[in-house]
Amino acid sequence: MNIKSYYPFNRVIVLSIMSCLLVLGCVSDAPVLSEEGTEEMHKVPDIDLVQPVAMEVIGQAGATLLTALSATIDTAGIKDAIGYCNLNANRLVKDLASEYGVDIKRTSLKLRNPNNEPTKDEELILAYYASQHNQGEVCEGELSKVDGVYKYYHPIYLMDKCTACHGIKGETLNKKAAKKLEELYPNDQALGYEAGDLRGMWVLTFKKSSF
Ligand code: HEC
Repeated sequence: MNIKSYYPFNRVIVLSIMSCLLVLGCVSDAPVLSEEGTEEMHKVPDIDLVQPVAMEVIGQAGATLLTALSATIDTAGIKDAIGYCNLNANRLVKDLASEYGVDIKRTSLKLRNPNNEPTKDEELILAYYASQHNQGEVCEGELSKVDGVYKYYHPIYLMDKCTACHGIKGETLNKKAAKKLEELYPNDQALGYEAGDLRGMWVLTFKKSSF
């Protein structure tokens, strides 16, 4: 894949799952990756089809992870919930994605699990999101076509409850949790976050036959 340019294009405005329902179908100017580095503008005629499916999967995946995590934290405590997350987070998401016939992952510029590493196009979107966030803007859903398939990206912001595992050592992240994380993820970069920080993004890749 060769991505040369990053230029204004159409996208659907997605502020959150709730607001997305309200603005479904709205299209505005925004940057999206070009396909194979070609310089011409691409239309994405299927955006109205892609976006609602993407948001449904992301909504369900987020809810599945949160429910499973909260239940484990309540019953087993934060330290064991980290082990649970390590073993099950990706499997839960993958199971759900296969139900919908899409690939789904979470990625970030500051990774905890190196297996969640971003690809080239994902890195560009993450960098774009980071610059938007640094300028105080709210990041929104983005759509691109990479190697002939649609990829939908959606920002992940940190909530208060996430700081128990992604927060500041000795403050929001307690000692036991910090120790467990060090054992499991010796190169963990996903620490030191506060609520409202941009943590990373969801990426949905649609199979060619999807649309
Ligand atoms: C119980 C601890 C725990 C809580 C709470 C938690 N996480 Fe995580 N998070 C983890 C672990 C462990 C991983 C690595 C999972 C894996 O191995 O794929 C992870 C990975 C991630 C990733 C994937 C990218 C990477 O760095 O590997 C994102 C994105 C993420 N978390 C966001 C969040 C958000 C947002 C919240 C709050 C809604 C949250 N996490 C709450 C433990 C937690």
